[in-house]
Amino acid sequence: MSFLTIQNVYHCFFTEKEASLTLANIELEMQEGEFISFLGPSGCGKTTLLSIIAGLLQPLEGRVEIEGEAVTEPSSAIGYMLQQDYLFPWKTIEENIVTGLRITGTYSRETRQYALKLLEQVGLADSVQLYPRQLSGGMRQRAALVRTLATNPKILLLDEPFSALDYQTKIKLEELVCSLLKEFHKTSILVTHDIEEAIAMSDRIFLLRAKPGHIAKVIAVPEEIRNMSPIQARQHPAFTKLFQLIWKELESLEVQKS
Ligand SMILES: Nc1ncnc2c1ncn2[C@@H]1O[C@H](COP(=O)(O)OP(=O)(O)OP(=O)(O)O)[C@@H](O)[C@H]1O
Ligand SMILES: [Mg+2]
Repeated sequence: MSFLTIQNVYHCFFTEKEASLTLANIELEMQEGEFISFLGPSGCGKTTLLSIIAGLLQPLEGRVEIEGEAVTEPSSAIGYMLQQDYLFPWKTIEENIVTGLRITGTYSRETRQYALKLLEQVGLADSVQLYPRQLSGGMRQRAALVRTLATNPKILLLDEPFSALDYQTKIKLEELVCSLLKEFHKTSILVTHDIEEAIAMSDRIFLLRAKPGHIAKVIAVPEEIRNMSPIQARQHPAFTKLFQLIWKELESLEVQKS
């Protein structure tokens, strides 16, 4: 059985004057522990699709299932990390990373220890009592990652989590996220505009097209790249080849659109 199944999902947004079809016929299956990316132009519906998977938004039609159970509302099984870190500015890093534990009623000595251990793993042990404003952008995203992982979600949804960071910080975070997710065997979906990031991190890449948003192509990342860390992967000849292929695919999708 697949870990995540998306069947025939359609979504529409309504305004006073019109209804616009945002997503059409989204079909997808994912195995446990798999890492996939959604790559596609701005406005093609990537965040909308993540929100539906997270149970924050009900699709007009279709069904999302995690381990055979329909997703109908947000739950602690699903961890959602956004482009902006949304840490609470008035709370210390420790209070921030246990927020999910408190909301889900799972805060205990053990779960707190687990969150603090994760914080140490991402190199923020010395920041426990600091406030978000005292941290750099990359440090804040690491804290946000810990907050997302602290509740031990079954699936991680990452909506452009690195896009506001400088190149070096971004690649270091990619490395960190990849190794953490492998260690905990997490199933993850990454939304990105960055072809390199998608190749370096994913097992499969879903290319989306706009109006209405749909899956235009699915590309499997070759095993030799998948087995490498994001930095190593970038050095591999197969990486450049795949980059060019995806670049061309995205361009041809653009041409078909116009
Ligand atoms: N709450 C909303 N009400 C009405 N329209 C919306 C709403 N949210 C998104 N849309 C529209 O749905 C479409 C898809 O938006 P979405 O945010 O999912 O795109 P995206 O692929 O995540 O874009 P980006 O890459 O810029 O983040 C856009 O045309 C957007 O204007
Ligand atoms: Mg978006």
